[in-house]
Amino acid sequence: MKTRLTSLDEVPERGSWLFTVRQHGADEEYILVRCGDDEHGPVRAFRNVCPHEPQRLDRGNGHGAAMRDGEIICPRHGSSFDTCSGYCDNGDARETTLPDLDVEVEGEDVYLVDDSATFRHDGPKEDDDDMPSSTSHLGF
Ligand code: FES
Repeated sequence: MKTRLTSLDEVPERGSWLFTVRQHGADEEYILVRCGDDEHGPVRAFRNVCPHEPQRLDRGNGHGAAMRDGEIICPRHGSSFDTCSGYCDNGDARETTLPDLDVEVEGEDVYLVDDSATFRHDGPKEDDDDMPSSTSHLGF
């Protein structure tokens, strides 16, 4: 199934566009980020949780994930992830890769084309009881 997520314009050059899907019977947050290499395409979708500890990358406060030099920075211990491959080669999350979802850009729009997940809505999960370490109110 192919579901429109948003327009390409809504995905910031630095930062992320947060959304929620239903996957394996639970709501999960993912982020759209700009990539732009030939192999991966203009936009990628990664799970919004650091593989080191359950820390959200985009904390849902409207600012998006922290970015530096084309990498997503984990707000807890500072490991950074390539925005195209999702791979981390540094810090506590070294040698991990963010799980991804397949997305496609068609014209000016970004579509979810991954059969493992169903789009729920943009923004953070509404019920974050089972989302560990929701730190959006702590102001890291
Ligand atoms: S929680 Fe992300 S690097 Fe430790």
